[in-house]
Formats: sequence, structure tokens, C-alpha cells
Amino acid sequence: MLPKSVKIVEVGPRDGLQNEQGLVPLAAKVTLVEQLAEAGCSVIETGSFVSPKWVPQMADSAAVFQQIKRQSNVRYTALTPNLRGLEAAIEAQVDEVAVFAAASEAFSQKNINCSIAESLERFMPVMELAQKHHLPVRGYVSCVLGCPYEGHVTPQKVAEVSHQLLEMGCYEISLGDTIGVGTPVKTQQMLEAVLSCIPANKLAVHFHDTYGQALVNILIALQQGISVVDSAVSGLGGCPYAKGASGNVATEDLVYMLDGMNIETGINLKKLTQAGLNMMQALGRQTNSKVARALTT
Ligand code: HMG
Ligand code: MG
Repeated sequence: MLPKSVKIVEVGPRDGLQNEQGLVPLAAKVTLVEQLAEAGCSVIETGSFVSPKWVPQMADSAAVFQQIKRQSNVRYTALTPNLRGLEAAIEAQVDEVAVFAAASEAFSQKNINCSIAESLERFMPVMELAQKHHLPVRGYVSCVLGCPYEGHVTPQKVAEVSHQLLEMGCYEISLGDTIGVGTPVKTQQMLEAVLSCIPANKLAVHFHDTYGQALVNILIALQQGISVVDSAVSGLGGCPYAKGASGNVATEDLVYMLDGMNIETGINLKKLTQAGLNMMQALGRQTNSKVARALTT
């Protein structure tokens, strides 16, 4: 059974822009977030409060939050790897935060400089303080279908880390194919392992599209009853600690697919496409969205 509606978590302003080589002007980031909201995106990952030494591209997240004109029906969210990040996020009046772990030890070390177990321990006080402030916390698990350093990752490990994040108080777990290597049968097997301990309504999927497999893997997730999908406008992005990983699945391509299946998203494809094209113009590059290209040529 396919869901009647899908909640799209637009991660372009964060996952999309965190890997840009050049400096992205603050004004372009603010415009992107505002135009995504205008297009009907109801959850926008707007930035991250991480060490600027690790990800300089997100150093101005507080300024982005300060400058955006907010819409009351939109949730503006951010990544917070530690207490310091959460304190900055609270100061910036974010609506929701996310902690991020991995199902691969090597990736955990490269990305957040600690083991998986240490990261979960580090998240404990983050969860506590977030709860005090009534802030919902999302939990990411990276490398669910493969790791750039370790290669194979077992579905059991993904299920284990996901379950730990849920137990800790995350309201939703986003399963990240960080380097976009997943194929449909592997995706199905990984999801079956996770679904054996977490219900579908607490899961989201997050596919990077490095090998062009994202949409088909998303379809597998929808068939498993998952109805929250992360994507980035224009297919922006990549992870600075996952060499060779390309952007997330393009939101335009996802919305086109869901529109064609009569699955409600609340997003206006035309406005979304324009928001993406405006950002790409600011970056001086062509869009990575096939749908945006098809609609504008
Ligand atoms: P560390 O070096 O082990 O920690 O980094 P530290 O506490 O020694 O901090 C290092 C420096 O950063 C210090 O500054 C701290 O003050 C500062 P110094 O004393 O050297 O001048 N610092 C901070 N500054 C601002 N905000 C903070 C903060 N914390 C420390 N919150 C740490 C550990 C976690 C901080 C670091 O590794 C880090 O920031 N990593 C973030 C990496 C990242 O953002 N990766 C991309 C996001 S994850 C992703 O893309 C995957 C996802 O999309 C899902 C998927 O696709 O799979 C979510
Ligand atoms: Mg990602």
C-alpha cells in the first residue's frame, strides 16, 4: 500500500550547501529558504550548528535563521552535533534539531571525530536540553547502505543504531544512503531489518543520488509504508566527509514522481523549480534536477 501523502524534508540549504567549494553568499541562502517555503515546503533544514573548522560553509547558519522571514506553517530545522550546537540552535530559535550518528565506525570518526558509542553518549545531554525546550529531535543514521571507508554495512547495525536513537527520544529516524550506493533489493533488506524494531511512521529515508538509484529506492521505501522523504532542491549537495558522494535526490524529481502517483506533497513544482534555478544561478552552475531541466528547455 502506498501512502496518500508524503512529507518531504527539504535539506538543500544544509546538506545541499555544506559541500560547496566556494562561499555561498548569505543573501542567496536566505532567498533560497524563503522561496522553498513559498513553494510549499513544510520542513526546511535551514543550517547546521557544527564546528566551522569542520564545515566552514555552515558557519553563518545563525545569520540565516536571523534573516529569514518565517512562515508559521513551516518548520525550520538544523543539525546539532553537541550541546554547544544545540545552545546556538536554541538561541537562533530553530523549530526542530537533529543529531547525527552513523552505522559505520570509520565514518563516525571522520564525520564527528568519535566512535558510534561515544556519539550516542554525547547526544544524551543534547536530548535532555532539547526536551526542556520542547524541541523535537530527529536522528540521522549515515551509511545505511554502504560506507566510503568500510564498504559493506550490515542491515543489523543500521537497525541497532536506529533503535538506540529512537530509545534516546528521537521522534523520527532518517536513514541516510550517504554515498548513494544502494540498489532496490539491498534497500528492501535494510528496511526490513529496521522495520523489525521501528514502526514505519517513525522512519524517513535520505538518499543521495550518486549512482542514479535514489528514486527507485524511495519507491521501495514508500511500498514499505514509509512516508517521510528527504531531498534537496536542484539535487544540490554531498557530504564533505564522504568523498565522491553527490547530491541528494532532487526535490523537483521527487515531487514530479509523487505528483504522477497522486501522492500529495503540498509542494508547487513550478515554484520549487524556480527556487532551485535561482540558487543555481547564484552558484553559477546548471541544475542537477532532470525535471527542472525538462521543464525549462
Ligand atoms: P572535535 O574537533 O572532536 O571537537 O569536533 P572539539 O570539541 O574539540 O571542537 C573543535 C573546535 O570546534 C573547537 O574550537 C570547538 O570550540 C569548536 P577551537 O577550540 O579549536 O577553536 N566547536 C564548535 N563550534 C561551533 N559549533 C559547535 C561546535 N562544537 C565544537 N557545535 C564536532 C567534533 C562534532 C564538533 C565536529 O566533528 C563537527 O562539527 N562535525 C560536523 C561534521 C558535519 O557537519 N558533517 C556533515 C553533516 S552529516 C551529513 O551530511 C550526513 C547526513 O546528511 C545524512 C546522510 O547523508 O547520511 C545528515
Ligand atoms: Mg546527507
